[in-house]
Amino acid sequence: MKSTRIKYNPYWDCIIVLFFRQPFSSKTLLFHSDVFELFLLKIRLEILLEGKDSVKLLKQAIMEKGRVLSNDVLKVDAFLNHQIDPELMQEIGKEFTERFKDEGISKILTIESSGIAPAMMAGLYLGVPVVFARKRKSLTLVDGLFTAKVHSFTKKETNEISVSSEYLLAGDVVLIIDDFLANGQAARGLVDIVKQANATLAGVGNVIEKGFQAGGDLLREQGIRVESLAIIDSLENNQITFREE
Ligand code: G4P
Repeated sequence: MKSTRIKYNPYWDCIIVLFFRQPFSSKTLLFHSDVFELFLLKIRLEILLEGKDSVKLLKQAIMEKGRVLSNDVLKVDAFLNHQIDPELMQEIGKEFTERFKDEGISKILTIESSGIAPAMMAGLYLGVPVVFARKRKSLTLVDGLFTAKVHSFTKKETNEISVSSEYLLAGDVVLIIDDFLANGQAARGLVDIVKQANATLAGVGNVIEKGFQAGGDLLREQGIRVESLAIIDSLENNQITFREE
């Protein structure tokens, strides 16, 4: 995405809509002003999505604030997994929206905890609710659950994740969003839950994909659309190497 200096003022379109609405009294003219309002809303979304180069900003944050802990693990606690950078999350939300805006998404599905921030921002721009799968049993969430077992190779533990059937419906078009795609176990569990709900899967969006682990291939081989904003091909020798897109 090209960078631009346009700063959006949310009052512009309100003022224009009010200006055009005032003089119209007949139903026909009101209809025209409603069409015009829709047109303005579309422009507003376009302007909102115009912004900084999100992928560049993300890669910059990874290079400047990320720490390679081993050949397999990248620590990004400074902006994603512990402390969260809201502005960066906002840009990430815009980028996911740009990539999936024509898919008719009705819901975003993520998994607690670090998937929630980027998923929220995408939900904000796509204008849809965000549902997060729980890793622990909830006191109030007991009936009508979709569940899946998720094994973490990194943490060497298995969790049963769950989502209430109240919030994932058969007609939903679902975008799965997560912070990391590593071995793909969390994504596999979430895809399974989308299937249990008889909803349609639009794709999987990841902030960071570790391209040297199996998750991405596993999903793509199943014909699932996978969009990862930054793909890391190697963490060897303490060096972060991105895949050139
Ligand atoms: P998978 O779901 O793709 O199979 O990943 P895996 O089991 O290997 O990883 C489990 C957890 O570890 C996930 O977080 C995942 O986001 C995280 N993770 C995997 N690789 C890395 C990495 O290189 N760096 C960081 N920072 N995290 C990594 P989680 O347990 O769901 O944690 P959270 O969402 O509660 O923070």
